[in-house]
Amino acid sequence: MNFEFTEEQLMVRQAARDFAQNELKPGVIDRDEHQKFPAEQIKKLGELGFMGLMTSEQYGGSGMDAISYVLVMEELSKVDASASVVISVNNSLVCYGLEKFGTEEQKQKYLIPLARGEKIGAFCLSEPEAGSDATSQQTTAIDMGDHYLLNGTKNWITNGNSASTYLVIAQTDASKKHHGINALIVERGMEGFTIGPKENKMGIRGSDTHSLMFTDVKVPKENRIGEEGFGFKFAMTTLEGGRIGIASQALGIASGAHELAVQYAKERKAFGKTIANLQSIQFKLADMATEIEAARLMCLKAAWLKDHHLPYGQASAMAKLFASKVAMDTTIEAVQIHGGYGFVKEFHVERLMRDAKITQIYEGTSEIQKIVISREVLK
Ligand code: CAA
Repeated sequence: MNFEFTEEQLMVRQAARDFAQNELKPGVIDRDEHQKFPAEQIKKLGELGFMGLMTSEQYGGSGMDAISYVLVMEELSKVDASASVVISVNNSLVCYGLEKFGTEEQKQKYLIPLARGEKIGAFCLSEPEAGSDATSQQTTAIDMGDHYLLNGTKNWITNGNSASTYLVIAQTDASKKHHGINALIVERGMEGFTIGPKENKMGIRGSDTHSLMFTDVKVPKENRIGEEGFGFKFAMTTLEGGRIGIASQALGIASGAHELAVQYAKERKAFGKTIANLQSIQFKLADMATEIEAARLMCLKAAWLKDHHLPYGQASAMAKLFASKVAMDTTIEAVQIHGGYGFVKEFHVERLMRDAKITQIYEGTSEIQKIVISREVLK
């Protein structure tokens, strides 16, 4: 086992750290307060190559490994989890899915601008009545010969209004159940495709979450990803990698809150000394540091398995399950250490606490991760 990062990995982590401090931090409270999408910052992240971090250079990406992706996600999420989810969805659900399963034409037309950060992608699986139960897709893609006729509604779509390219999962032949599901590339502006109002969320308020409506949208056959009926497997496979991204986002939220708590504990004076001198605070900080390190190792292990082309579905589910709990627990404790200051926006920890919750919900709830893990355990 080698726990050392390469020079390239350290460089990309430093670049993400600098970007988070210099470009994300200054406006993060305002974007959260007013639910503003970080458009300018995402454009710059695209120029730095972060929108297609793991996509090969041949298709406009940076050609980096999944370990680098974990490092970048942690650094960005320490400061702005709304920006980091844009990076995560674009990288691991959209670009990865297109590179692994798309045709050469699809890669040329859709993947290259997404990986270069010229366009943003969205992954559309959840529906009003199919969130965890992803096989129960009500959106239909009826085979009309040279195209599919797409009808239905998708819910909770990250990048819903900022995306240009949408990977939409839909049922073509209900009699075949999950083998009758397809994944289609839908372009913004296709006739019959409308974007619903923005969700007013508890956390990651700078990210752009919408429902999407499809009414008789004609999607050309060449926009189907993979063979007929491959859509469900496509979604499950891409979500395995997506969960590394969200686990790393949770890790970043936790480590960001911990850093703030350490800094505050060293500055805040009570009972004649800084509160860092109180054992009750020291024990909290030690527990937080230990859990964060365990979460970090789990994220890196899942990424390492992916980089080595080994099965990583269980490892990514474990990393997401654990890191998202650590994010919740750590941010609650970080607010507690800050006392009254933790409850006001200027100190950042209340936002991190609100942001942490979504990591236990999206890309599969904690209960879904336990289903994935227990199936492997009981195999
Ligand atoms: N890789 C490849 N194939 C897989 C797979 C995987 N990881 N997991 C399952 N499959 C395949 C199975 O092999 C099976 O295919 P066969 O019949 O050919 O063998 C098929 O998929 C169905 O599998 P199951 O019978 O296991 O399906 P299930 O109905 O029991 O559901 C589940 C399994 C794990 C619960 C799945 O439905 C699931 O992951 N649900 C959660 C979905 C989710 O994460 N939604 C989040 C939305 S995306 C999002 O949040 C993005 C965002 O915007 C941030």
